[in-house]
Amino acid sequence: MPDFDFDLFLRDYWQKKPLLIRNPWAEWHNPLDPDELAGLACEAGIESRLIESRDGRMTLAHGPFAEDRFGELGKAPWTLLVQAVDHHVPDVAALIAPFRFVPDWRIDDVMVSYATDGGGVGAHFDQYDVFLVQGMGQRRWRVGPVYDDSSPLLPHEDLRLLAGFEATDEWVLEPGDILYVPPGFGHDGVAVGDDCMTYSIGFRAPSRSDLIAGWCDHLIDSLTQDDRFADPDLRTQDNPGEILPAALDQLHAMVMEGLSDRAAFARWFGEYSSMRKYPEADWRPEEPVETDDLVAAIEDGVSLARNPASRFSFIRQDTGAITLFVDGQSFDCTGESAALAEALCAEAMIDLDPALTESPDARRLIAALIDQGSIAFDDEEEED
Ligand code: SIN
Ligand code: CO
Repeated sequence: MPDFDFDLFLRDYWQKKPLLIRNPWAEWHNPLDPDELAGLACEAGIESRLIESRDGRMTLAHGPFAEDRFGELGKAPWTLLVQAVDHHVPDVAALIAPFRFVPDWRIDDVMVSYATDGGGVGAHFDQYDVFLVQGMGQRRWRVGPVYDDSSPLLPHEDLRLLAGFEATDEWVLEPGDILYVPPGFGHDGVAVGDDCMTYSIGFRAPSRSDLIAGWCDHLIDSLTQDDRFADPDLRTQDNPGEILPAALDQLHAMVMEGLSDRAAFARWFGEYSSMRKYPEADWRPEEPVETDDLVAAIEDGVSLARNPASRFSFIRQDTGAITLFVDGQSFDCTGESAALAEALCAEAMIDLDPALTESPDARRLIAALIDQGSIAFDDEEEED
């Protein structure tokens, strides 16, 4: 996006206020056909929703849908929404790249919607930041003030629709235009004309309750029942009913000691946040990769491709070592394997340096990531 100042955006808009960005792309191409989107919505293992608006009443159905479903829809406005399309369509995955001024661990996935004239999901707010990229057709977005969990909703068994939504801004988006909506801001997008496609680059932010629950669950896993309060120095006390400060200090310390372990928390968070949202896209080979094949591929300078459903991130240790996190697993990396880990986190596809055959650590890392289905050799050229 040549015409976009990321630093200015982060300073003035990110998590603060909505922004309409009129077509900042050098050249905008809609990356997916409506028919292909409908095809994805028919596949098991892909999350999709169909919302129809009939006589002011919205109905929700969940996919996968039968192939003839879309042909049978009547004149009433409807919209189809498909989650994580970036996992299945490389041109849609490419839409994330310009938004990587936000770190990868904050990125969720790309949802794609298709709507007929008047179609939309209704006025709502989300917990997360989103960039809404208009792919084709037009959509009128009305964006409003900040709402929260206490805001009144319309009675609806499936949809969380805001009651009395009052927009403060209104824009009609054309292909290539982008609307940024921070968490909590009410928004309502309605297709203007048929063939309206919108790409939502969605972010995520862990809730405090999920963090505490996850970290505590992890700590509990390593604790045993014999790790318990003990008071071999117990003294008599005036009132046996009192819980003395010294006992409380000891109990509180028992809880806080583990909880405040920053290094253990860092490893847990890396593993937790790199867990896949959709584990279905399974790239695991039937047999573990053979060392000879691995060495031969590296010598040939073959490229490594990341599974688009996989999550990669890393933490840099004070020692310069790298802890790599991929799909819920952690890998301690130094030297060549650390450089490889950083390269894998930076790009979805990397060219391997043939010199890596000399590094057992790097070879082990590549083999482990292939075996767990997070990367694969990209041998398209050989097949051609
Ligand atoms: C849509 O694409 O219609 C909905 C996206 C959103 O409101 O988050
Ligand atoms: Co939304």
